[in-house]
Order: sequence, then structure tokens, then C-alpha cells
Amino acid sequence: MINRVAISVLTILLAAGAFAADLTDAQRAAIEQRIKPVGESCMEGDNTCGAPAVAAAPAGPRSGEDVYNSACMACHSTGAAGAPKVGDATAWADRIAKGTDVLYVSGVEGVAGTGMMAKGGCMNCSDEEVHAAVDYMVANSQ
Ligand code: HEC
Repeated sequence: MINRVAISVLTILLAAGAFAADLTDAQRAAIEQRIKPVGESCMEGDNTCGAPAVAAAPAGPRSGEDVYNSACMACHSTGAAGAPKVGDATAWADRIAKGTDVLYVSGVEGVAGTGMMAKGGCMNCSDEEVHAAVDYMVANSQ
């Protein structure tokens, strides 16, 4: 009897251990945040005390590089679907010659009839973020 209980407890612990090992760093950080002791020493006058952990949330628009890496790189680093590769000055020369404003429009609205969809498919990207990604791509392709 005791043994059976011990074995099931062990099984549960092992299962929990396996589960814990599957957590990503971000999940682990979120859990640590949740279980950290309440009322960690708080100095008087420290207005950051008890502030919610917002550090991980982006404070403003993502940088062009971040947007590029998450939304544009799949095509623009490989040339997939005929996308001009970032870093390929020849592929970009004629496009850059059209002017940044034209490229911004292509970035936000896409290029009809090609694999370049509106915002490169990044529907949660603001126009501003897409513009920044275009700037990043142009800056690295001339
Ligand atoms: C699914 C693949 C794909 C993704 C993802 C993608 N693009 Fe493109 N992009 C293309 C293709 C293909 C072209 C070439 C279109 C053409 O023939 O002019 C292109 C062209 C462009 C051009 C040049 C347009 C012109 O007027 O010459 C810009 C600027 C551009 N993409 C920006 C972006 C940005 C910014 C992102 C990410 C937010 C992105 N793309 C994501 C496929 C993609």
C-alpha cells in the first residue's frame, strides 16, 4: 500500500518534471514572475514597486529589423517566390530608384499578382512598422 502510494507520487512528480522540461524560456519566466514572493522588500518612495511586469511587452513600434526578421525574412532572405533578396544590390537598384514612398506603398499594400501580399502577410504590423522594415531592407540592399 505504502509502496503503491509512493510509486504514484513518483509518477506524478516525473510527469510534472517532464512537463516542466517542455516549457519555453518565456513560459518559465512568466511562471517565475507569477510565483515570486509577494511584497518583495519595497523601499519607501520607490514608485516601481509593485508595478506590473511589463518589461517583456514592446514599449512602442517594433524596429524595422525586428519586423523584417519576423515577417519579411522568410521570402526576402531566400528569394522565395521571386522576392528581391535583401543584400542583393542588383535586385534592389531599380526598386530603390522608384523612391521610398513607392516602396512603402508596396510594403503596406503588397504587389498585386505576386507573392508580395499586403504587409508581407503581417496583419498585426502597423503601417509605421512596415515602413521601418522597408527602410531596413533598403538600407541593407545598396
Ligand atoms: C511570401 C513572400 C514574401 C513576404 C513574406 C514578404 N515579401 Fe516583399 N516581396 C515578395 C515578392 C515576391 C516581391 C517581388 C514583387 C514584384 O515582383 O515586384 C516582393 C517585393 C517587395 C518590395 C519591393 C516592391 C517594389 O515596389 O519594388 C518591398 C518593399 C517588399 N517586398 C517589402 C516587404 C516587407 C516590408 C515585408 C515584411 C513586412 C515583406 N516584403 C514580406 C515576397 C514577400
